Amino acid sequence: MPELIPAAKPIIGDEERAAVDRVLRSGMVAQGPEVAAFEEEFGAQLAGGRTAVAVNSGTAGLHLGLLAAGIGSGDEVIVPSFTFAATGNSVALTGATPVFADIELDTFTLDPAAVEAAITPRTKAIMPVHLYGHPARMRELRAVADRHALVIFEDAAQAHGAQLDGAQVGTFGRFAMFSLYPTKNMTSGEGGMVVVEDQAMARAVRLLRNQGMERQYANEVIGFNARMTDIHAAIGRAQLTKLSGWTAQRQANAARLDRELRGVQTPVVADGATHVYHQYTIRVENDRDGFSRALREEHGIGNGVYYPIPNHRLESLAPFAPGLDLPNTEAAAATVLSIPVHPSLTDGDLDRIIEAVNAVAKAGA
Ligand SMILES: Cc1ncc(COP(=O)(O)O)c(C=O)c1O
Repeated sequence: MPELIPAAKPIIGDEERAAVDRVLRSGMVAQGPEVAAFEEEFGAQLAGGRTAVAVNSGTAGLHLGLLAAGIGSGDEVIVPSFTFAATGNSVALTGATPVFADIELDTFTLDPAAVEAAITPRTKAIMPVHLYGHPARMRELRAVADRHALVIFEDAAQAHGAQLDGAQVGTFGRFAMFSLYPTKNMTSGEGGMVVVEDQAMARAVRLLRNQGMERQYANEVIGFNARMTDIHAAIGRAQLTKLSGWTAQRQANAARLDRELRGVQTPVVADGATHVYHQYTIRVENDRDGFSRALREEHGIGNGVYYPIPNHRLESLAPFAPGLDLPNTEAAAATVLSIPVHPSLTDGDLDRIIEAVNAVAKAGA
């Protein structure tokens, strides 16, 4: 059995180790100057100059962003069901109701017509997910939002650097969240970055992050401890300097897979979109699970299904969606398979991945 090519591989180098050492030696490890610098650099590089507020996870970022925007009990927020559960969880954690809408099967992102059909008098917001690193259809979603006086929040957990019509994701909504979990396109160990439209939102997220305090012991609102440490920020800053090179490598790897894979549906890139390939996700119509097993067990190619159970059918979130039927979401959950695309792949790894996928596709055809 050939050596396993992993589905994802965080890259931690000497720069990250030196940055952590620098912080540890300083003796000040909690939120401080490294976090401030990371926020500044992240907003400038990845969010069109918007203000960024660092928190200790992407999930905390969504939760605090929603609370800062005033979302709570009695409100509805439209989200996709085909995403990681953190999207709907964060809405539910505010006391609001996540309302699940169907996706388009080509890009796996929210279908604007399905979103419009899900609007009720209680709907306050739409939270698209730029799934796998492909931007959601923000032009059409903006038109829906404007027609119904809704706000947009972006779950950009998987989409650092993705663009639509030349604008970076993270600049389309009242706030956006980027995850910094180790398997994401860049990491801080754990962490999240909230980028915001205006200074009132920035202040509200900062207060919620720090027990409701701007001035020490003068707590203004009830808040959390969701602060990022300077240790994590130092790792994130080092990663940020390498991100554009890694993204270009992901895109080059994806281009080769697009050219050479046969017998499977390769990822679609919408007009005007720049895909950053957090995942390279193919669709396998016949026996996806057998395909996945054969790739791993016979060919040593790591792979993953993101996500096998749509959120509206998870035990945790199903109570928000009684009787709901989302056909494209079901079709995606039954057929998607993500294969390695990460920047550490060698040309030899790509040869092996292409050969294996084409062989398994041919055998199953
Ligand atoms: C689409 C999506 N939303 C939210 C999250 C939550 O981010 P985190 O794991 O940093 O809390 C993730 C990542 O796991 C995600 O993929």
